[in-house]
Amino acid sequence: MNTIEQFNKFVMHSYGRYDLVLESGEHEVSVDKNGKKYIDFGSGIGVNSLGYCNDEWVEAICSQAKKIQHTSNYYYTKIQADFAKKLCETTGYTDMFFGNSGAEANECAIKIARKYSFDKYGKGRHNIITLKNSFHGRTICTLSATGQDVFHNYFFPFVEGFINVEPNNIEDLREKLDNSVCAVMFEYVQGEGGVCALDQDFVDEIFKLCAENDVITIADEVQTGVGRTGKFLCGEYFGHKADLTTLAKGLAGGVPIGVCLSGDKCADVLTPGTHGSTFGGNPLACAGGIAVLNKVNSEGFMDEVRQKSEYIREKLNKCSEVQSVSGIGLMVGIELKTKKAADIAKAALEKGLLLLTAKTRVRLLPPLTISYEEIDEGLDILIGLLNS
Ligand SMILES: Cc1ncc(COP(=O)(O)O)c(C=O)c1O
Repeated sequence: MNTIEQFNKFVMHSYGRYDLVLESGEHEVSVDKNGKKYIDFGSGIGVNSLGYCNDEWVEAICSQAKKIQHTSNYYYTKIQADFAKKLCETTGYTDMFFGNSGAEANECAIKIARKYSFDKYGKGRHNIITLKNSFHGRTICTLSATGQDVFHNYFFPFVEGFINVEPNNIEDLREKLDNSVCAVMFEYVQGEGGVCALDQDFVDEIFKLCAENDVITIADEVQTGVGRTGKFLCGEYFGHKADLTTLAKGLAGGVPIGVCLSGDKCADVLTPGTHGSTFGGNPLACAGGIAVLNKVNSEGFMDEVRQKSEYIREKLNKCSEVQSVSGIGLMVGIELKTKKAADIAKAALEKGLLLLTAKTRVRLLPPLTISYEEIDEGLDILIGLLNS
């Protein structure tokens, strides 16, 4: 049995996969079992923020593995405290909860918002507004929060208490934000939904209405956070800081992590026994996270992310097959005029380029550390396919 046959025999078939077995990686290049190289414009869906096997990141993980790889959350570890301090200092939040994925980070935020409201107002004020076309995860609760009907099948009953509002429709938001609502949850740029940024006016209105009504704002920055858009938090572009922000994906550079950040308002909502996670705060993840934070906080790093973004967008906009380029920073959506995104992603594999898609768009989430040389190499392949 080869790898693919063995895999398919023993692993459930919940993903559509490409016929590709990756074996290793070097910086921004993935290598398959035959030694063929691929420029990676997907970084494992925005996870390998520093590319493959970044020296400082490898060193951090390896030296932590030799000290303590896990302990229960009944005890403290220095690495967790160090990571939490650094992340709070980076973001300006005061407190955080450790989980292992984006969905888990969002579950935590949902629980905090509901308990905040329950503690203050009692039962019945539990509804959470989420946006149509959003994506918040695959657990039964975060699927329920996700505002796309296509995900609301098979697994009935879904979790009650999510109301969907049309993105950028202020009237719809005003109408639905009544006194049954405890939170509004949103992505500044809907990633899985097609790399669609929210309008400034709409975001302003969310924050205004939530402040007036003591409703918790939850920014799902699982995909947009950790420098992906050229600011540590995408909310910085919009001039807002949500009561709760969730991060995951690129936060630990490839080790599972998910966190829910809170400001003062919700910092004391969770009390002993109300929430937990066996692996949450895993020391290896914290070590990887510190390496990522050191890198993205280093001088000029975010400027470079923004410059690379402009460079990529400028080149793409010159291509006649490109209808429009969406997203912010190194979160790039490409709407095509005549070709299908899925066909381009498939053809790119042959040529040695890994691409993502989101709805009808080709999606790029390259490592934040990608070099101009690799950007050029990847774009040459992509634009060549679009022009062919
Ligand atoms: C905005 C957003 N939230 C949540 C999730 C779920 O994250 P995870 O797959 O780590 O649970 C994703 C994953 O794509 C996401 O893009």
